[in-house]
Amino acid sequence: MIDLAREVREKLLASGVDASVSWVAETGSTNDDAKLAASNGASAPAVLVADSQTRGRGRAGNAWLSTKGEGLLFSLVLRPKLRPDATAPVTLAVGSVIAKLLDELAPGRCRVKWPNDVELDGKKVAGILVEAQTRGDRIEAVIVGVGINVAGKELPPEVSAIATSLALAGVASADRVVLLADAVLGLVRAIDRFGREGLGPFLEDIRAKDALFGQRVAVEGVSGTAAGIDDGGRLLIRDDKGVLHACASGHVERAHR
Ligand code: BTN
Repeated sequence: MIDLAREVREKLLASGVDASVSWVAETGSTNDDAKLAASNGASAPAVLVADSQTRGRGRAGNAWLSTKGEGLLFSLVLRPKLRPDATAPVTLAVGSVIAKLLDELAPGRCRVKWPNDVELDGKKVAGILVEAQTRGDRIEAVIVGVGINVAGKELPPEVSAIATSLALAGVASADRVVLLADAVLGLVRAIDRFGREGLGPFLEDIRAKDALFGQRVAVEGVSGTAAGIDDGGRLLIRDDKGVLHACASGHVERAHR
């Protein structure tokens, strides 16, 4: 693990990013570890990686299931200047970075699924959990947690109908060290840019890779046709009366007519 961490750190340094990298065989949740590190004053960027998690967490309290060594599970501690209400749009910006990265391995097949997933051939290949540590109305640290299904040929039965992995999709050569270094570089730059310019620079990519556009969806009691992402990162849904709704958060059901 120490060698892998060193390799990643050296790759990052070669691209001008001086990050601490820790890579362990098993932990509860890298997001929890990252939060602890951040509240203990860790300097940013810090990267925490694990081969497996016993309490991996997803959005809305869901569990994130993974099989040992088959996923890329990491959290990044960053200290950008952001307002506390920026967590949701940051999640979308992170989604666009991860989708772009995976699209290089599987060209034209990756999409951003609002609010926090990346899909490959229409199935979830990566999930994102962004959490903020705040003091008053100031963000002290942002924890960007990412889980990518890399090598699994058999996913946990609970998720196999809706999820995929790079290996299942035929992307056999995904090296976790290279993928991690590229992801961290992309994310450090993206969050820095987000801090200066907001979601604007990411919207073109997010809209071009919008997994839900034109599909029948339901979010928290609003159902209709997904009509894109607005400038604030909210999902637009046009209901059957033609009324446009903007959803800031929630779970998306893909509805069938
Ligand atoms: C989701 O799909 O709802 C988000 C899943 C995020 C999973 C990653 S794995 C690394 C990091 N540690 C966690 O406990 N969660 C994130």
